[in-house]
Amino acid sequence: MKVAVIGAAGGIGQALALLLKNNLPAGSDLALYDIAPVTPGVAVDLSHIPTPVTIKGYSGEDPTPALDGADVVLISAGVARKPGMDRSDLFNVNAGIVKSLAEKIADVCPKACVGIITNPVNTTVAIAADVLKAKGVYDKNKLFGVTTLDVIRSEAFIGELKGMDPREVSIPVVGGHSGVTILPLLSQVKGVTFSQEEVEALTPRIQNAGTEVVEAKAGGGSATLSMGQAACRFGLSLVRALQGESNVVECAYVEGDGQHARFFAQPVRLGKEGVDEILSIGELSAYEQQAMDKMLETLRKDIKMGEEFAAK
Ligand code: NAI
Repeated sequence: MKVAVIGAAGGIGQALALLLKNNLPAGSDLALYDIAPVTPGVAVDLSHIPTPVTIKGYSGEDPTPALDGADVVLISAGVARKPGMDRSDLFNVNAGIVKSLAEKIADVCPKACVGIITNPVNTTVAIAADVLKAKGVYDKNKLFGVTTLDVIRSEAFIGELKGMDPREVSIPVVGGHSGVTILPLLSQVKGVTFSQEEVEALTPRIQNAGTEVVEAKAGGGSATLSMGQAACRFGLSLVRALQGESNVVECAYVEGDGQHARFFAQPVRLGKEGVDEILSIGELSAYEQQAMDKMLETLRKDIKMGEEFAAK
């Protein structure tokens, strides 16, 4: 397996690279790419960690050597939020970056599974999909918006609130990856129940958790370490499934049957070719159903913005 991290010199990229160097299966190759000249040095640094994962770093204008032969590409290239910004403020810069990277992926590793971390995920995934489509290589089972951070935050907050070991919490988070489009299905957490008051406090806390970090970092960026962990979890799940492990399930923002929106985050069973099966989101509580009805317009608008950008 070859995993490429694009944007690897950034806050997320470096944390993700460190975790992958330590946790990818023996024999894997890890390739780091970033326009920043420090990137080969980040790889040299990580290469001194004694794990059976080979690592190489590339910088400059051309991601080709990192993408060449990649089975999984994780993209965190772009700019991050500062206080007062929401994810859509990142659109102008990040949309162009994702578009040109998707073009490169189409040329160099069209069969790779691609996980997009770069915000606004609701929109950048639509851009990548339509760029790959225009190049004739789009496989909807191989393109993912990485929403795992919403899942791990939910696990952490529920553990804290209910005095549970957060590693034992399991919760689907559906919809998209910004504000009201993030919908944690608290009604489906096994072994605990939430009062209406708890639901009404915890749901917006999960939706706005990114802003909690942006404000606490006071101009120093957005979530990087927890996002590195989240992307590592998603990337390792993908690798395990590609290598044949069965019943690997993660929530991700994917193109499904379009029941709610063209792209929608929901639990998916991963397999040897990417998405094996999109799983049902199950039954929603009245509160969740109402939140779902309210989010769809925003989500569809975000997606349309990406489709229009890709068509330009
Ligand atoms: P950062 O600024 O620390 O790192 C971004 C890196 O991307 C920099 O090293 C920069 O040189 C690189 N870069 C820029 N243009 C590039 C290009 N064309 N090719 C390759 N590399 C390029 O930012 P950070 O904190 O790592 O965040 C990265 C992205 O991830 C942001 O868009 C942020 O909003 C997003 N994010 C997504 C989350 C999610 O849950 N999906 C959570 C947190 C952040």
